[in-house]
Amino acid sequence: MASLEDLIPTVNKLQDVMYDAGIDTLDLPVLAVIGSQSSGKSSILETLVGKDFLPRGTGIVTRRPLVLQLNNLASNSPLINEYEEDSERDDIVEDKEPTLEDHLRKTQGYEAQRNDEWGEFLHLPGRRFYDFADIRNEIQNETARIAGKNKGISRIPINLKIYSPRVLNLTLVDLPGITKVPIGEQPADIERQIKNLILEYVAKPNCIILAVSPANVDLVNSESLKLAREVDPHGKRTIGVVTKMDLMDSGTNALDILSGKLYPLKLGFVGVVNRSQQDIQANKSVEEALNNEDAYFIRHPVYRTISTRCGTRYLAKLLNQILMNHIRDKLPDIKARLNTLIGQTEQELQTYGGTGIITKENRASLVLQLMNKFAARFVSSIEGTSSDIST
Ligand code: GDP
Ligand code: NA
Ligand code: MG
Repeated sequence: MASLEDLIPTVNKLQDVMYDAGIDTLDLPVLAVIGSQSSGKSSILETLVGKDFLPRGTGIVTRRPLVLQLNNLASNSPLINEYEEDSERDDIVEDKEPTLEDHLRKTQGYEAQRNDEWGEFLHLPGRRFYDFADIRNEIQNETARIAGKNKGISRIPINLKIYSPRVLNLTLVDLPGITKVPIGEQPADIERQIKNLILEYVAKPNCIILAVSPANVDLVNSESLKLAREVDPHGKRTIGVVTKMDLMDSGTNALDILSGKLYPLKLGFVGVVNRSQQDIQANKSVEEALNNEDAYFIRHPVYRTISTRCGTRYLAKLLNQILMNHIRDKLPDIKARLNTLIGQTEQELQTYGGTGIITKENRASLVLQLMNKFAARFVSSIEGTSSDIST
């Protein structure tokens, strides 16, 4: 299965090498989802991350930006071990009476609680959420705390970090949907306010825009594509995502859109089927949803010919490829810096005069030199890899 997870080993190795070479960051692109209200933005992000933790539903649900920073934990991470030695940390999260839902979750064994992944909010430092349902509740509470209970929105982001061995080091942004008509506590200029809020994130050149358009609304009316075009006029960093493919009128299809005949985007369009409101109510899992989605496209009389380029799994593949290309673009710089380091180390070794005595002083240099030799080999090996990830 292709997912963002597939890049973890490569990115981790590279980040280790870069850290040792004093290069601080790979500066991976940030992914942001934009689109009209209830077009399926939160649903897509959740499926891409592979966990159930985002509030979703009809009406305005996402009312503050959610900046979601995924952090890969190596399985031998001290952060995990720290937890294992101190298992009463569980109490930190379980500080309330268990609900019926909690009870069902435990007795039925679904969504098994894993101790090696958790979430942490910036507004609640030091508190680890091991249960992703609690993360969703906290997002809802924290949304209401700042943006009120009556449909108001706020530009102040919620910052959530997820630590897991099964995620790629990456930042994703879930944004409120574009709306036209003010409701509840929303101000008269709600549309402009939300657009400005979205622009704060997507105007940055390092942002990959997932521009969501529901298949049951005419593409010429797509708010996300209009907004994306303002900041990415040549469509170089925008991926069109067509949601609700399952809800199109019978007799119509999105083949023209998906094949790029209707709207030019260099990265193209991907059609997806997210979980419906009914699926949400029935607690359909991410895995089940992905399998149903694949089956939908494979069996569809029109889409089956392009089914390998449809669905959320394919979207993840496409994102992998974009990230891989980004890394590849950074390689010459990384290599140059490593070469400088190796040169310095070799010079240093020569000044020890080849006495053959490993002293405390020259051991560190020796280790560094070996490490850099390894690093250089590693860099050339991934440089040589094919850019085709469609395996
Ligand atoms: P957002 O407001 O753009 O973040 O949209 P949500 O992800 O909250 O989804 C809004 C509603 O649309 C929810 O009830 C979802 O279950 C439903 N939904 C989203 N995508 C799809 C889809 O592809 N098919 C169907 N049938 N429903 C979807
Ligand atoms: Na919604
Ligand atoms: Mg949302």
